[in-house]
Amino acid sequence: MPKKKKRPARGLYILLLIAVLAMMAVGIALALRSGSKVPVPVPVATAPPVMTTAATAPVRAETTTATTTETETEAVTEKALPPGMVSGIRLSFYHATVYIGDPAIMPLVLMEPEDAFDKSERWESSDESVAVVDESGNITGVGEGRCIVRVTSMSNPEVYAEVIVTVEPAPEYRTTPAMSTPSRETTTMTVDEMRKDINVIGGITYVQGVMIVNKTYPLPSSYNPGGLIPEAAQAFSDMRAAASADGIYLFSHSDYRSHWSQVSIYGNYCSKYGQEAADRFSARAGYSEHQTGMTVDVNWPGDAFNGTAEAEWLEKNCAKYGFIIRYPRDKEEYTGYKYESWHIRYVGKEWAAVITGSGLSMEEFFNVPSIYPEG
Ligand code: DAL
Ligand code: ZN
Repeated sequence: MPKKKKRPARGLYILLLIAVLAMMAVGIALALRSGSKVPVPVPVATAPPVMTTAATAPVRAETTTATTTETETEAVTEKALPPGMVSGIRLSFYHATVYIGDPAIMPLVLMEPEDAFDKSERWESSDESVAVVDESGNITGVGEGRCIVRVTSMSNPEVYAEVIVTVEPAPEYRTTPAMSTPSRETTTMTVDEMRKDINVIGGITYVQGVMIVNKTYPLPSSYNPGGLIPEAAQAFSDMRAAASADGIYLFSHSDYRSHWSQVSIYGNYCSKYGQEAADRFSARAGYSEHQTGMTVDVNWPGDAFNGTAEAEWLEKNCAKYGFIIRYPRDKEEYTGYKYESWHIRYVGKEWAAVITGSGLSMEEFFNVPSIYPEG
Protein backbone atom coordinates (compact mmCIF):
# COMPACT_ATOMS: atom_id res chain seq x y z
CA MET A 1 0.00 0.00 0.00
CA PRO A 2 1.44 3.28 -1.00
CA LYS A 3 2.48 5.43 1.79
CA LYS A 4 0.02 8.20 2.43
CA LYS A 5 1.75 11.56 1.95
CA LYS A 6 1.84 13.67 5.02
CA ARG A 7 0.02 17.02 4.24
CA PRO A 8 1.41 20.09 5.99
CA ALA A 9 -1.09 21.80 8.19
CA ARG A 10 -3.19 24.57 6.43
CA GLY A 11 -2.16 27.01 9.17
CA LEU A 12 1.48 26.66 8.13
CA TYR A 13 0.65 27.67 4.52
CA ILE A 14 -1.15 30.81 5.71
CA LEU A 15 1.78 31.79 7.92
CA LEU A 16 4.21 31.37 5.03
CA LEU A 17 2.01 33.54 2.75
CA ILE A 18 1.84 36.31 5.33
CA ALA A 19 5.63 36.25 5.75
CA VAL A 20 6.20 36.54 1.96
CA LEU A 21 3.74 39.47 1.64
CA ALA A 22 5.35 41.29 4.58
CA MET A 23 8.82 40.94 3.00
CA MET A 24 7.54 42.30 -0.29
CA ALA A 25 5.99 45.35 1.42
CA VAL A 26 9.25 46.11 3.25
CA GLY A 27 11.19 45.83 -0.04
CA ILE A 28 8.90 48.28 -1.85
CA ALA A 29 9.08 50.80 1.00
CA LEU A 30 12.89 50.67 1.02
CA ALA A 31 13.06 51.13 -2.76
CA LEU A 32 10.83 54.20 -2.61
CA ARG A 33 12.96 55.83 0.10
CA SER A 34 16.27 55.22 -1.65
CA GLY A 35 16.13 55.02 -5.48
CA SER A 36 12.79 56.11 -6.91
CA LYS A 37 12.08 59.44 -5.32
CA VAL A 38 8.77 61.18 -5.69
CA PRO A 39 9.51 64.11 -8.04
CA VAL A 40 9.76 67.48 -6.35
CA PRO A 41 7.99 70.34 -8.16
CA VAL A 42 10.51 72.57 -9.93
CA PRO A 43 9.73 76.28 -10.00
CA VAL A 44 9.14 77.54 -13.53
CA ALA A 45 8.81 81.06 -14.84
CA THR A 46 5.08 81.60 -15.19
CA ALA A 47 3.38 84.10 -17.48
CA PRO A 48 2.91 87.36 -15.63
CA PRO A 49 -0.59 88.55 -14.86
CA VAL A 50 -0.15 92.03 -16.32
CA MET A 51 1.36 93.33 -19.52
CA THR A 52 4.11 95.35 -17.89
CA THR A 53 5.87 92.41 -16.32
CA ALA A 54 6.16 89.85 -19.04
CA ALA A 55 9.18 87.63 -19.49
CA THR A 56 9.58 85.18 -22.32
CA ALA A 57 13.10 83.98 -22.18
CA PRO A 58 13.82 80.39 -21.24
CA VAL A 59 15.59 81.44 -18.10
CA ARG A 60 14.24 80.95 -14.66
CA ALA A 61 14.20 83.47 -11.88
CA GLU A 62 16.62 82.36 -9.27
CA THR A 63 14.85 81.01 -6.28
CA THR A 64 15.04 78.37 -3.62
CA THR A 65 11.80 76.58 -3.01
CA ALA A 66 11.03 74.00 -0.43
CA THR A 67 8.26 71.46 -0.42
CA THR A 68 7.38 69.98 2.92
CA THR A 69 5.44 66.83 3.54
CA GLU A 70 4.76 65.07 6.84
CA THR A 71 7.84 62.93 6.52
CA GLU A 72 10.40 64.90 4.57
CA THR A 73 11.61 68.33 3.46
CA GLU A 74 13.37 68.78 0.15
CA ALA A 75 14.77 71.91 -1.41
CA VAL A 76 15.44 72.82 -5.05
CA THR A 77 17.99 75.54 -5.52
CA GLU A 78 18.47 77.51 -8.73
CA LYS A 79 21.28 79.93 -9.50
CA ALA A 80 20.38 83.40 -8.24
CA LEU A 81 20.51 86.23 -10.82
CA PRO A 82 22.48 89.24 -9.58
CA PRO A 83 20.21 92.22 -8.95
CA GLY A 84 19.72 94.42 -12.01
CA MET A 85 20.43 91.57 -14.44
CA VAL A 86 18.06 91.19 -17.40
CA SER A 87 15.74 88.28 -16.62
CA GLY A 88 13.25 88.38 -19.50
CA ILE A 89 12.44 89.98 -22.83
CA ARG A 90 9.03 90.81 -24.18
CA LEU A 91 8.37 91.89 -27.77
CA SER A 92 5.51 93.87 -29.25
CA PHE A 93 4.94 91.06 -31.75
CA TYR A 94 6.05 87.47 -32.32
CA HIS A 95 4.95 86.74 -35.87
CA ALA A 96 5.47 88.89 -38.92
CA THR A 97 4.71 88.59 -42.60
CA VAL A 98 7.02 90.93 -44.47
CA TYR A 99 6.58 91.73 -48.15
CA ILE A 100 9.70 91.93 -50.30
CA GLY A 101 10.44 95.59 -51.04
CA ASP A 102 8.49 96.93 -48.03
CA PRO A 103 10.13 99.16 -45.42
CA ALA A 104 11.69 97.41 -42.43
CA ILE A 105 9.60 96.59 -39.39
CA MET A 106 10.90 96.69 -35.85
CA PRO A 107 9.49 95.02 -32.75
CA LEU A 108 9.46 97.06 -29.56
CA VAL A 109 11.67 95.36 -26.97
CA LEU A 110 10.70 95.46 -23.32
CA MET A 111 13.41 94.10 -21.04
CA GLU A 112 12.77 92.90 -17.55
CA PRO A 113 13.24 94.08 -14.90
CA GLU A 114 12.50 97.65 -15.87
CA ASP A 115 15.50 98.86 -13.89
CA ALA A 116 17.98 96.34 -15.32
CA PHE A 117 21.45 97.89 -15.49
CA ASP A 118 22.40 96.84 -19.00
CA LYS A 119 19.60 96.51 -21.53
CA SER A 120 21.85 96.27 -24.58
CA GLU A 121 20.79 93.71 -27.15
CA ARG A 122 22.10 91.67 -30.05
CA TRP A 123 20.01 90.77 -33.11
CA GLU A 124 20.47 87.89 -35.51
CA SER A 125 18.53 86.19 -38.29
CA SER A 126 18.53 82.42 -38.68
CA ASP A 127 18.58 82.82 -42.47
CA GLU A 128 19.82 86.02 -44.08
CA SER A 129 18.66 84.88 -47.50
CA VAL A 130 15.11 85.25 -46.14
CA ALA A 131 15.30 88.27 -43.80
CA VAL A 132 18.03 90.48 -42.41
CA VAL A 133 17.99 92.41 -39.17
CA ASP A 134 20.19 95.37 -38.21
CA GLU A 135 21.65 96.18 -34.79
CA SER A 136 18.51 98.18 -33.87
CA GLY A 137 16.11 95.36 -34.70
CA ASN A 138 14.90 96.59 -38.11
CA ILE A 139 13.78 93.49 -40.01
CA THR A 140 13.76 93.55 -43.81
CA GLY A 141 12.50 90.79 -46.09
CA VAL A 142 15.04 89.56 -48.66
CA GLY A 143 13.66 86.39 -50.25
CA GLU A 144 10.60 84.19 -49.99
CA GLY A 145 10.66 81.83 -47.02
CA ARG A 146 10.53 81.69 -43.27
CA CYS A 147 13.18 82.33 -40.63
CA ILE A 148 13.59 83.29 -37.01
CA VAL A 149 14.88 86.64 -35.85
CA ARG A 150 16.26 86.50 -32.35
CA VAL A 151 17.11 89.27 -29.90
CA THR A 152 19.45 88.33 -27.09
CA SER A 153 20.38 90.27 -23.96
CA MET A 154 24.08 91.18 -24.08
CA SER A 155 24.38 91.21 -20.31
CA ASN A 156 22.63 87.85 -19.90
CA PRO A 157 22.96 85.83 -23.12
CA GLU A 158 20.67 83.13 -21.73
CA VAL A 159 17.76 85.53 -22.18
CA TYR A 160 16.31 85.96 -25.63
CA ALA A 161 13.03 86.34 -27.54
CA GLU A 162 12.16 85.45 -31.11
CA VAL A 163 9.98 86.60 -34.00
CA ILE A 164 8.93 84.08 -36.65
CA VAL A 165 9.30 85.98 -39.92
CA THR A 166 7.60 84.92 -43.15
CA VAL A 167 8.72 86.73 -46.29
CA GLU A 168 6.41 86.87 -49.30
CA PRO A 169 6.29 88.78 -52.57
CA ALA A 170 4.12 91.89 -52.21
CA PRO A 171 0.52 91.14 -53.16
CA GLU A 172 -0.61 93.03 -56.26
CA TYR A 173 -3.69 94.45 -54.56
CA ARG A 174 -3.50 95.15 -50.91
CA THR A 175 -6.83 95.21 -49.20
CA THR A 176 -7.90 95.54 -45.63
CA PRO A 177 -8.04 92.01 -44.23
CA ALA A 178 -11.51 90.89 -43.19
CA MET A 179 -12.65 91.72 -39.69
CA SER A 180 -12.03 88.83 -37.31
CA THR A 181 -14.53 87.60 -34.77
CA PRO A 182 -13.75 86.28 -31.31
CA SER A 183 -13.18 82.57 -31.76
CA ARG A 184 -13.11 81.72 -28.09
CA GLU A 185 -13.57 83.21 -24.67
CA THR A 186 -10.61 85.53 -24.74
CA THR A 187 -10.93 86.20 -21.05
CA THR A 188 -9.84 82.62 -20.41
CA MET A 189 -6.66 82.92 -22.48
CA THR A 190 -3.40 83.07 -20.61
CA VAL A 191 -1.18 86.11 -21.02
CA ASP A 192 1.21 83.93 -22.96
CA GLU A 193 -1.44 82.83 -25.45
CA MET A 194 -2.52 86.44 -25.98
CA ARG A 195 1.05 87.50 -26.54
CA LYS A 196 1.77 84.81 -29.08
CA ASP A 197 -1.20 85.96 -31.14
CA ILE A 198 0.28 89.31 -32.11
CA ASN A 199 0.98 89.35 -35.83
CA VAL A 200 2.42 91.94 -38.15
CA ILE A 201 1.27 91.51 -41.74
CA GLY A 202 2.59 93.94 -44.32
CA GLY A 203 3.48 96.43 -41.55
CA ILE A 204 0.01 96.28 -39.92
CA THR A 205 -0.41 94.68 -36.50
CA TYR A 206 -3.25 92.36 -35.54
CA VAL A 207 -3.96 90.91 -32.17
CA GLN A 208 -6.24 87.91 -32.46
CA GLY A 209 -7.05 89.12 -35.94
CA VAL A 210 -8.10 92.62 -34.83
CA MET A 211 -6.10 95.50 -36.30
CA ILE A 212 -4.46 97.48 -33.54
CA VAL A 213 -3.05 100.98 -33.87
CA ASN A 214 -1.72 102.87 -30.89
CA LYS A 215 1.55 104.37 -29.62
CA THR A 216 3.29 100.97 -29.95
CA TYR A 217 1.70 99.78 -33.18
CA PRO A 218 1.91 102.19 -36.16
CA LEU A 219 0.62 101.89 -39.70
CA PRO A 220 2.77 102.23 -42.80
CA SER A 221 2.53 105.78 -44.15
CA SER A 222 1.22 104.33 -47.41
CA TYR A 223 -1.70 102.59 -45.74
CA ASN A 224 -4.85 104.14 -47.16
CA PRO A 225 -8.17 102.28 -47.17
CA GLY A 226 -9.64 105.20 -49.15
CA GLY A 227 -12.08 106.34 -46.47
CA LEU A 228 -14.11 104.48 -43.87
CA ILE A 229 -14.06 100.77 -44.68
CA PRO A 230 -17.49 99.69 -46.01
CA GLU A 231 -18.49 97.68 -42.88
CA ALA A 232 -17.71 100.64 -40.61
CA ALA A 233 -19.53 103.11 -42.89
CA GLN A 234 -22.63 100.88 -42.93
CA ALA A 235 -22.50 100.40 -39.16
CA PHE A 236 -22.23 104.14 -38.59
CA SER A 237 -25.16 104.81 -40.87
CA ASP A 238 -27.29 102.20 -39.05
CA MET A 239 -26.30 103.71 -35.72
CA ARG A 240 -27.22 107.23 -36.84
CA ALA A 241 -30.66 106.03 -37.92
CA ALA A 242 -31.23 104.36 -34.54
CA ALA A 243 -30.03 107.45 -32.67
CA SER A 244 -32.26 109.66 -34.74
CA ALA A 245 -35.27 107.50 -33.83
CA ASP A 246 -34.35 108.24 -30.19
CA GLY A 247 -34.18 111.99 -30.92
CA ILE A 248 -30.35 112.04 -30.94
CA TYR A 249 -28.52 113.62 -33.84
CA LEU A 250 -25.13 112.08 -34.63
CA PHE A 251 -22.75 112.89 -37.46
CA SER A 252 -19.18 112.22 -38.43
CA HIS A 253 -16.93 115.16 -37.70
CA SER A 254 -13.79 113.33 -38.84
CA ASP A 255 -13.24 109.72 -39.80
CA TYR A 256 -10.48 108.48 -42.14
CA ARG A 257 -7.40 110.71 -42.03
CA SER A 258 -4.30 110.11 -44.11
CA HIS A 259 -0.80 109.92 -42.66
CA TRP A 260 -0.13 113.36 -44.09
CA SER A 261 -3.19 115.06 -42.66
CA GLN A 262 -2.18 113.66 -39.26
CA VAL A 263 1.29 115.20 -39.71
CA SER A 264 -0.37 118.58 -39.97
CA ILE A 265 -2.98 118.07 -37.18
CA TYR A 266 -0.44 116.79 -34.65
CA GLY A 267 2.08 119.48 -35.64
CA ASN A 268 -0.49 122.22 -35.04
CA TYR A 269 -1.38 120.87 -31.60
CA CYS A 270 2.30 120.65 -30.67
CA SER A 271 2.83 124.29 -31.69
CA LYS A 272 -0.20 125.40 -29.71
CA TYR A 273 0.04 123.27 -26.54
CA GLY A 274 3.55 121.76 -26.58
CA GLN A 275 4.40 118.15 -27.38
CA GLU A 276 3.86 116.69 -23.93
CA ALA A 277 0.28 117.99 -23.76
CA ALA A 278 -0.44 117.12 -27.40
CA ASP A 279 0.70 113.52 -26.88
CA ARG A 280 -2.16 113.03 -24.40
CA PHE A 281 -4.91 113.71 -26.95
CA SER A 282 -3.44 113.67 -30.45
CA ALA A 283 -1.59 110.84 -32.17
CA ARG A 284 1.68 111.29 -33.98
CA ALA A 285 1.50 110.65 -37.71
CA GLY A 286 1.55 106.90 -38.34
CA TYR A 287 0.08 106.17 -34.91
CA SER A 288 -3.44 107.51 -35.38
CA GLU A 289 -6.38 105.13 -35.49
CA HIS A 290 -8.04 107.53 -37.91
CA GLN A 291 -5.75 106.17 -40.61
CA THR A 292 -7.36 102.71 -40.21
CA GLY A 293 -10.64 103.83 -41.78
CA MET A 294 -12.43 102.26 -38.83
CA THR A 295 -12.63 105.29 -36.56
CA VAL A 296 -15.06 108.19 -36.30
CA ASP A 297 -14.96 111.35 -34.22
CA VAL A 298 -18.64 111.91 -33.53
CA ASN A 299 -20.17 115.43 -33.51
CA TRP A 300 -17.79 117.72 -31.59
CA PRO A 301 -14.43 116.35 -30.51
CA GLY A 302 -13.45 118.00 -27.24
CA ASP A 303 -14.18 117.81 -23.54
CA ALA A 304 -17.41 119.80 -24.05
CA PHE A 305 -18.91 116.69 -25.68
CA ASN A 306 -18.37 114.61 -22.53
CA GLY A 307 -21.59 114.15 -20.57
CA THR A 308 -23.92 115.39 -23.34
CA ALA A 309 -27.05 113.40 -24.25
CA GLU A 310 -25.30 112.41 -27.49
CA ALA A 311 -22.20 111.14 -25.66
CA GLU A 312 -24.36 109.17 -23.23
CA TRP A 313 -26.38 107.62 -26.07
CA LEU A 314 -23.16 106.70 -27.86
CA GLU A 315 -21.64 105.07 -24.79
CA LYS A 316 -24.80 103.06 -24.13
CA ASN A 317 -25.50 101.97 -27.70
CA CYS A 318 -22.42 102.04 -29.93
CA ALA A 319 -21.41 98.41 -29.18
CA LYS A 320 -24.70 97.21 -30.71
CA TYR A 321 -23.40 98.53 -34.03
CA GLY A 322 -19.87 97.21 -33.65
CA PHE A 323 -18.12 100.27 -32.17
CA ILE A 324 -16.23 100.75 -28.92
CA ILE A 325 -15.39 103.94 -27.04
CA ARG A 326 -11.70 103.64 -27.77
CA TYR A 327 -10.30 105.89 -25.04
CA PRO A 328 -12.53 105.29 -22.03
CA ARG A 329 -12.51 107.28 -18.79
CA ASP A 330 -9.56 106.72 -16.43
CA LYS A 331 -7.66 104.46 -18.83
CA GLU A 332 -4.91 106.81 -19.95
CA GLU A 333 -2.21 104.65 -18.36
CA TYR A 334 -3.21 101.82 -20.75
CA THR A 335 -4.41 103.61 -23.89
CA GLY A 336 -1.94 106.49 -23.75
CA TYR A 337 -4.78 109.00 -24.23
CA LYS A 338 -7.18 111.03 -22.09
CA TYR A 339 -10.89 110.17 -22.12
CA GLU A 340 -12.45 110.81 -25.54
CA SER A 341 -16.21 110.25 -25.45
CA TRP A 342 -16.47 111.10 -29.16
CA HIS A 343 -13.80 108.81 -30.64
CA ILE A 344 -15.28 105.43 -31.60
CA ARG A 345 -13.57 102.50 -33.28
CA TYR A 346 -15.26 99.83 -35.37
CA VAL A 347 -14.27 96.29 -34.32
CA GLY A 348 -17.40 94.39 -35.40
CA LYS A 349 -20.39 93.52 -33.23
CA GLU A 350 -18.89 90.41 -31.61
CA TRP A 351 -15.69 92.06 -30.44
CA ALA A 352 -17.53 95.23 -29.46
CA ALA A 353 -19.81 93.20 -27.19
CA VAL A 354 -16.99 91.37 -25.40
CA ILE A 355 -14.63 94.33 -25.12
CA THR A 356 -17.32 96.75 -23.90
CA GLY A 357 -18.76 94.08 -21.62
CA SER A 358 -15.34 93.56 -20.03
CA GLY A 359 -15.13 97.20 -18.89
CA LEU A 360 -11.53 97.21 -20.13
CA SER A 361 -9.76 99.39 -22.65
CA MET A 362 -8.65 97.68 -25.87
CA GLU A 363 -5.05 97.62 -24.59
CA GLU A 364 -6.01 95.93 -21.33
CA PHE A 365 -8.34 93.51 -23.06
CA PHE A 366 -5.72 92.33 -25.54
CA ASN A 367 -2.82 92.78 -23.12
CA VAL A 368 -0.81 95.07 -25.38
CA PRO A 369 1.18 98.22 -24.55
CA SER A 370 0.71 101.71 -25.96
CA ILE A 371 4.08 103.42 -25.62
CA TYR A 372 6.01 105.32 -28.26
CA PRO A 373 9.19 103.42 -29.23
CA GLU A 374 11.47 105.92 -27.57
CA GLY A 375 9.46 105.52 -24.35
N1 DAL B 1 -7.27 111.75 -30.87
C1 DAL B 1 -6.67 110.51 -31.26
C2 DAL B 1 -5.77 109.99 -30.20
C3 DAL B 1 -5.93 110.66 -32.57
O1 DAL B 1 -5.35 111.71 -32.81
O2 DAL B 1 -5.88 109.70 -33.32
ZN1 ZN C 1 -10.50 110.71 -32.97
